Amino acid sequence: MKLMGLRKRRFNEMDLLFKNISEQAVERYNHRYQKHGFNVLSLGWGSVEQQEYRFSQTLSQYDPSTKALLDIGCGFADYYDYLKRQNCKPERYIGWDINHHFIAKAQERYIEDSRVILQENDLVDLECQAPLADVGIMLGLLNYNLKDPIKNYNYSMQMIAKAFGLVKEMLIVDFLSVHKIQEYPEEDFVFYHDPALILEEALKLTPLVQLKHDYLPIPQREFMLVLKKCL
Ligand SMILES: C[S@@+](CC[C@H](N)C(=O)[O-])C[C@H]1O[C@@H](n2cnc3c(N)ncnc32)[C@H](O)[C@@H]1O
Repeated sequence: MKLMGLRKRRFNEMDLLFKNISEQAVERYNHRYQKHGFNVLSLGWGSVEQQEYRFSQTLSQYDPSTKALLDIGCGFADYYDYLKRQNCKPERYIGWDINHHFIAKAQERYIEDSRVILQENDLVDLECQAPLADVGIMLGLLNYNLKDPIKNYNYSMQMIAKAFGLVKEMLIVDFLSVHKIQEYPEEDFVFYHDPALILEEALKLTPLVQLKHDYLPIPQREFMLVLKKCL
């Protein structure tokens, strides 16, 4: 099925920087995939239990069974499998990932499911002309440390703005929090976002924002932001 309302865009300097980030992400995940194959470890997650606990946090925000869903950075499309097992299959599930191996595996898993559309896409490349889905989910995409906080925040906010433009109702996005737990050592390769800063930036996109900073560390403390459209 062809998705309407999307086109590839021309690049400016910022986009070229972001393309470089995308290339590094492909390399990083390819490396993990070579090592771990079809496994959550390839996605950078510690365990299925932690991944699914994170997924479960999204369900307090909406009812997937009545929605068309866009999962940006879907990995193996495990979120769809999780929703199926919770008996809340979305009306349509569109999964995008930049990584060829992940999308190929996801396509293999859901080849017979007509609700599922899986595409190898880089969010950086796409410009939205019209929303593609009711709800967007973007989990684990903004965790990499670019070794320059300004770059990290710019990247995060531009990705969020793009993703928010692709949905009709809401976007759910997650982050590692600067409010770390004592028990888990700080990691150099991941970026810890300040929820207050991210909230302030998100409020420039919409006044309807919810910050969820109250779930258990898995194993690090994370938070989610829910951005809603003014209807
Ligand atoms: C930590 S994994 C999470 C996968 C999935 N969301 C989950 O929770 O199981 C992050 C995913 O984002 C994808 N990704 C990173 N940058 C991307 C981009 N610019 N566009 C699309 N996907 C991207 C990676 O390839 C990877 O599969």
